[in-house]
Order: sequence, then C-alpha cells, then structure tokens
Amino acid sequence: MKILAIGDIFGRPGRRAIRELLPGLIRERCVDFVVANAENAAGGRGLTAKIAEELFESPIDVMTAGNHIWEHEDIRPFFDTHPVLRPHNVSEKLPGKGYGVFETKAGLPIAVVSLQGTIYMDEKGERALNPFVAADALLPGLREKSPVVFVDFHAEATSEKRALGWYLDGRVTAFLGTHTHVQTADEEVLPMGTAYISDLGMTGPHASVIGLAKEVAIRRFVEGI
Ligand SMILES: [Fe+2]
Ligand SMILES: [Fe+2]
Repeated sequence: MKILAIGDIFGRPGRRAIRELLPGLIRERCVDFVVANAENAAGGRGLTAKIAEELFESPIDVMTAGNHIWEHEDIRPFFDTHPVLRPHNVSEKLPGKGYGVFETKAGLPIAVVSLQGTIYMDEKGERALNPFVAADALLPGLREKSPVVFVDFHAEATSEKRALGWYLDGRVTAFLGTHTHVQTADEEVLPMGTAYISDLGMTGPHASVIGLAKEVAIRRFVEGI
C-alpha cells in the first residue's frame, strides 16, 4: 500500500500545487491513498467550507488539520459529512472526530489518526490533552479494525515528536509530523517497523517565512510588535 502524506497546505499557492501536481504524482507513483493536512489552506489560517470543497475536487482521501482548524466555524458541519479530521486529543465538547477508518482504492482498510502536541501550541488558547495517553486509549480498538494505522502528529517541539514516535513504534504504520512548515531530514523506519519523520514541511510558498510573506515576518521581528 502506498500512502501519500502531504504536509500543511498553505493558502492559494499550496492549493494551486495540489490542483496542478497531485493527479500526476498519484499516477506516477501509483499512490493508493492520500492524506493531506489542510489546516492552513484558507489564507494560511484554518479551513473554510468553500476551500474544503475546492480541495476535495483533487484526489485527496482524508484531510487532517491541527491547531488552526478552529479558526473558521463554517468548517464544523463538514466534520460529519466529509473525511475531515480535527485533532483527536481535544476537549470532548468540541465537534468532529480525530480518527476514522477509511478505504483505499483497492478496498483495504486504513485508519487515520490526527493528534496534536502540547508544547508551545496554545497560542490562541487551544488546549490539547496528553497525546500519549490519548493514543494508548485509542489505538487497540482501531487496530482491530485496520492493520494499517496512519498518524499525523501536529506539534511544534521535535522532542515531543521524537518521544511519541518512539512510544508508538510498532503500534502504528506511519507516524508523520506536521505544523512547523519546515521539513526535517530525519525520516527513518524505527526498529519495530513504524515509518517516522518529525515534520513533512508545508505545501506552500517557498520564498516565505513558514508561509507568511517574508517582509511581514521580518518586520515583526525587527520592530518587535
Ligand atoms: Fe500549519
Ligand atoms: Fe499548526
């Protein structure tokens, strides 16, 4: 089974890359299933209903998200009607689900899980619950439904990513990080068989500061406000 995992799709340039490049990539690499993180697809922050619909015109099977998914309220009804996951380990008062069992083109089951980190992740008051404990509770039942389990761990700190990757080694098929928008060079298959990378990097404007216009980002740092 070949799973294509796409890091944070950022704004219009990211959406354009998906629209123009994804179909060819799927053909060329014989991809069976596509998971894409879409938490920055709407102008760099969050996901709207309109943009989710536009993205689903491309062959994306499941969208994962992260801290920015709460930005636009109109995406919330999509959690029940479309394969859009919010992070699993958040307050149970929030709508949506953070995992699901889906099917590849060949009809094989694949479980997808979205987890969020806890370190440096509460910029706007978002509170994720302990992802280690959440994974322990979720995975056994999920593995009964699907031998293939894919995890998008949306987190800032590489320490938390490495630790959870090791903790889940052998219990999930792939454990791939998102959120920092910069790809790490630490991809490996861990000893118990789990494919790991700390961060996939973003799908967005390269000449930027993690997606933001570089002039805007530089000014913030120079002026300090
Ligand atoms: Fe992001
Ligand atoms: Fe994020």
